[in-house]
Amino acid sequence: MKYQRLLVTSALPYANGPVHLGHLAGAYLPADIYVRYHRLKGTEVLYICGTDEYGTTITESARKQGTTPQAIADRYHQVIREAFAGVGISFDNFSRTSRPVHTRQTQEFFLRLYEKGLLKQKTEQQLYDPQIGQFLADRQVVGTCHHCGYEKAYADQCESCGKAIDPRQLKNPRSLLSGATPEVRETTHWYFPLGEWQPQLEEWLENKSHWKPNVLNFCRNYFAEGLQDRAITRDLDWGVPVPLRGWEGKVLYVWFDAPIGYISSTIEWAEQIGQPDQWKEYWCDREGTKLVHFIGKDNIFFHALLFPAMCMAYGNYVLASEVPANEFLNLEGDKFSTSRGWAVWLHEYLQRFDPDPLRYYLTCIMPELADSDFVWRDFQERNNAELADTLGNFVQRALTFVHRYFAGQVPAAGSLREADRALLAAAATAPALLGEALERFEFKKAVRTLMDLPQAGNVYFQQQAPWEVRKTDPARCGTILNTCLQVCRTLAVVMFPFLPFAAEKLWRQLNLPGKVEEQSWDKAGEPLVPVGHPLNRPEILFPKIEDERIEAEVARLHAAAAEAAQGEEKKPMSVKPPAELISPAEFSRLDLRIARVEAAERVPGTDRLLKLKINLGEERRQIVAGLAHIYPPEEMVGKLIVVVANLQPARIRGVESQGMLLAAQEGEDIVLLIPESDIAPGAKVR
Ligand code: 2FM
Ligand code: ZN
Repeated sequence: MKYQRLLVTSALPYANGPVHLGHLAGAYLPADIYVRYHRLKGTEVLYICGTDEYGTTITESARKQGTTPQAIADRYHQVIREAFAGVGISFDNFSRTSRPVHTRQTQEFFLRLYEKGLLKQKTEQQLYDPQIGQFLADRQVVGTCHHCGYEKAYADQCESCGKAIDPRQLKNPRSLLSGATPEVRETTHWYFPLGEWQPQLEEWLENKSHWKPNVLNFCRNYFAEGLQDRAITRDLDWGVPVPLRGWEGKVLYVWFDAPIGYISSTIEWAEQIGQPDQWKEYWCDREGTKLVHFIGKDNIFFHALLFPAMCMAYGNYVLASEVPANEFLNLEGDKFSTSRGWAVWLHEYLQRFDPDPLRYYLTCIMPELADSDFVWRDFQERNNAELADTLGNFVQRALTFVHRYFAGQVPAAGSLREADRALLAAAATAPALLGEALERFEFKKAVRTLMDLPQAGNVYFQQQAPWEVRKTDPARCGTILNTCLQVCRTLAVVMFPFLPFAAEKLWRQLNLPGKVEEQSWDKAGEPLVPVGHPLNRPEILFPKIEDERIEAEVARLHAAAAEAAQGEEKKPMSVKPPAELISPAEFSRLDLRIARVEAAERVPGTDRLLKLKINLGEERRQIVAGLAHIYPPEEMVGKLIVVVANLQPARIRGVESQGMLLAAQEGEDIVLLIPESDIAPGAKVR
């Protein structure tokens, strides 16, 4: 069915921490590529997002950090917004669910369901904190698991045995808010009877057989079990208030309000462009709008079942046409995990690298049908071999050649040979081929198709050898370069969805009018660069990434994980760069060696200093160490120790020290570092 306009959403990220590369690959980058492509196609498209600012994850973070949920949301809204801008995610609007427009819209949505008599009230027993005077969410209670005895189990699921917990059976329960023992009290909530919508949902999904199998199977499994009523209110004070008298102190459940955020963000966009009714064209025209939700697989339930059922109940709104959910991205062989310090944060990545290599690499490994793995080395290799040596190289060769031998002006094309026609044909068909893949959400295939073009360009350049032809047949040489430049223009347009920064850069180097984002996708394959057109000087599009920078990233990752593993309380996520890290190369400058202490005596007139004669295998040295108050000289003799062997000599109390031994210190406690078993003096420590 032909639609008139396209409404694209990316899952609203929680404003309780920065976004990492897994988030980016799942719900944002594919949406952005899709939207950029459609803009060039001339589709009427709107791309909507914003931060998801309610829910107990945010109240939890606020509690841990001793601040308010609003302050947390303010901080991370900003961090997330800037990070997305930095990597080129081109939302038409990026709103916040804590804004009044969202409160209004969510309350209106709820009231309509309420007034239609579509909601149910139920009274149930829940845990209550008598000290604070508030009902507790499952994540606000810990206790001993009634299955396995793990002592820090949350009231919903035990992190140790993985089993679901019945909050009333949790042993020794404690409120995380006050430490008090929770009581069981009755509370009343509104429920959305999702089960009643199952027949309609099943019917709606019948013509979605082209959806990804992960999404369809997920829904079918739910249907098989039978959909259940879902509570849509909570006893909390952070959220959209339930708009009914007598319901003060209760808010709407975060998964009820969050997807309505797509609507309120669209309303905000319409107000901002001065056409306050325009949002209705997108949300209320069920025939004319194609709604596409980009999400990660953990959000399938809400986008393919709950929100569509809510919209069916509401009665007016467009239902999703597509829910291209991605699987998960892992990092260096392990799951992303904030608590284990195993993550690459987008805003931190952008402090050290360009956005386009990341966009490119994440597209190449996009977890479309199965989980995939971000590996720093692989990122480096893809950048260096594919972006730099293939795409960048082709463009650079062509532009440099024209500057050197044609005074920087596009030479005329004479009669075309088979090879020229073949390359121009590849350029002519690229937009349609790429477009087909993108329309089917096959991003990996699309980016491979994109790279086929510069690859073919390089083969062509090599085979045609214009540097030889120039000497015998300058006109033919002109034809070769003209052909290459036409392909460069095509490339600039078709790479734009994937590599928007480099695409605009290439466009400027080609000195073509306007911007890439104003070009037509359908004309991208045509040879439109005019003869005699002056080119700007080429600049490297994709600098190579050196080994040291990658080693530093891997070391940084392991350092963060080691810190987290030391049982550090989950600290507030730093939005500043972490403390200075050294690269493995810097570390290897330290010459650490095993030495045997051959003689030891006190430095006269001191309490603590020892003068040690040490054997370093091939040489003997003297070092001074401040240990005498803990290790008397006689205890030191014969010990194997670790020394820094390439430290500049220093004089300590008039005694020369030619190195330094390693010891661990905590307060007044000092412990020598000694090898775990015997090893020859001089052995290197790494
Ligand atoms: O999983 C998440 O990060 C949620 N904040 C996604 C919400 S998507 C939508 F419904 F708003
Ligand atoms: Zn357990």
